[in-house]
Amino acid sequence: PQSPTNQLIHLHQEATKLYHHILMNTEAGQPALDYLHERGLTDQTINDYGLGYASDQQLLKPFFEQRQIDYQTLRHSGLFIENQDGELRDRFVNRIMYPIRNESGQEIAFSGRLLAKLPDQPKYLNSPETELFNKRRVLFNFDQARGAVRKQGSLILFEGFMDVMSAHQSGVDNGVASMGTSLTEEQIYAIQRITKQVYVCYDGDTPGQKATQRALKILQDNSSLTLGVIQMPEGMDPDEYRRQYGEAKLADALATAKETPVAFMMRYLKTQYDVQSDTGRLNYLDDVIALLATVRSPVEQDVYLTQLATTFQLDKASLRQQLSMVRPPAP
Ligand code: GTP
Ligand code: MN
Ligand code: MN
Ligand code: MN
Ligand code: MN
Repeated sequence: PQSPTNQLIHLHQEATKLYHHILMNTEAGQPALDYLHERGLTDQTINDYGLGYASDQQLLKPFFEQRQIDYQTLRHSGLFIENQDGELRDRFVNRIMYPIRNESGQEIAFSGRLLAKLPDQPKYLNSPETELFNKRRVLFNFDQARGAVRKQGSLILFEGFMDVMSAHQSGVDNGVASMGTSLTEEQIYAIQRITKQVYVCYDGDTPGQKATQRALKILQDNSSLTLGVIQMPEGMDPDEYRRQYGEAKLADALATAKETPVAFMMRYLKTQYDVQSDTGRLNYLDDVIALLATVRSPVEQDVYLTQLATTFQLDKASLRQQLSMVRPPAP
């Protein structure tokens, strides 16, 4: 007899297979498969991630009942919604299914994406927290990325599942994503066990830039990881970039468009001020100089000071003097 945990894992494996079958081989799954193809995902990628489709026919419940899975197991799986009379129905309806796996590669949850926008419905619906699934601990693709992370000596943190898959399809396999929430200590701990270098590659839009800044801070406060930022141009996310310019260009950007956290922050802060006005410019410079005071390497400081002096046509000596007046932060 299986332990309750193994039974729940088994249930998720079976559900993954059913959803995948519906996507690949049935009429009900055809619109979803077309949608994924239109987004430029190959069948290889769809298979690599075990993507599936939960149709409106709600096939999961009869599928398990036929196999005589008991009611309590189904209730605790997170795959069903229970009404007041204790009746269960499929939680995921009309959604493309992304299986979420643990570090050992076992399916423990799902995230389901709507095919098209629907009012009052979230774009992504995740499994609830269960005995198997703690979303604070999970990083999407961690199990498959681990080998590539070790080999390349770095990990790329993306915002979305689609970005991770886009990178994979472009030959970049060291990507993971959190469950759409900000990074947790548990996730950082898992990352630190396999690498010393993390690149944050969030969406190039305004929320993505805010999230990048937040992620850098959380990583700095909770780890000794070496950090870098990869920003997609023109407000795109990595998946949009691949669709626009192709896989080779995405791989290229991920390999070369790296900047230091300070360089990113200097750019980001600049968007927060009206640097055309004297006040805005001075406030910006105050912020940047406070930022530069946290940089330990004098050479790195010098690079940024040179850049500031050129950009704003200022005397580098006065910038340096201002910097020397900022008390360095406690180590
Ligand atoms: P696509 O629209 O399919 O390209 O997805 P995306 O990954 O680009 O989505 P987006 O940038 O809007 O969001 C990034 C990540 O945040 C997603 O991959 C999800 O993990 C999460 N997310 C976005 N929308 C929702 C939502 O409505 N509910 C939940 N729980 N998570 C969400
Ligand atoms: Mn098609
Ligand atoms: Mn986004
Ligand atoms: Mn996105
Ligand atoms: Mn996207």
